[in-house]
Amino acid sequence: MRTSVYRKERFNAAHRLHNPLLSDAQNQEIFGKCNNPNYHGHNYEIVVKVTGDVVEQTGYVIDMKILHKILHEHIVEKFDHCNLNLDTEEFKNVNPTAENIARVCYEIIRPKIDASLDLKIYIYETERNYVEFPA
Ligand code: NI
Repeated sequence: MRTSVYRKERFNAAHRLHNPLLSDAQNQEIFGKCNNPNYHGHNYEIVVKVTGDVVEQTGYVIDMKILHKILHEHIVEKFDHCNLNLDTEEFKNVNPTAENIARVCYEIIRPKIDASLDLKIYIYETERNYVEFPA
């Protein structure tokens, strides 16, 4: 019986949406306030969905303590209170949109979860805007 479990974590981070290949005017037009040169912050939430068979011996899809540990060590400790553009390798040359943050988080977490389990990442940038990866 395939079952999904979810774990949510939070991190606060600053970013600036900017494409160096575009002019300042184009960046301003596309990204608006999010292009503000002095950065701005978000209270991000990451929700990780893990889907798989319930293991008979434990009754678990995945031990939530292990999932929490993976998220804490590799996402929260990495990105919390960071400037994503300036302080991280991942977003040095990647625009830190919620879409790209979701993909980067997926790439970090995927190899740490058993291959028999499906993984989806949700990044909430605001209460109303969130992204799913992979779709
Ligand atoms: Ni923003």
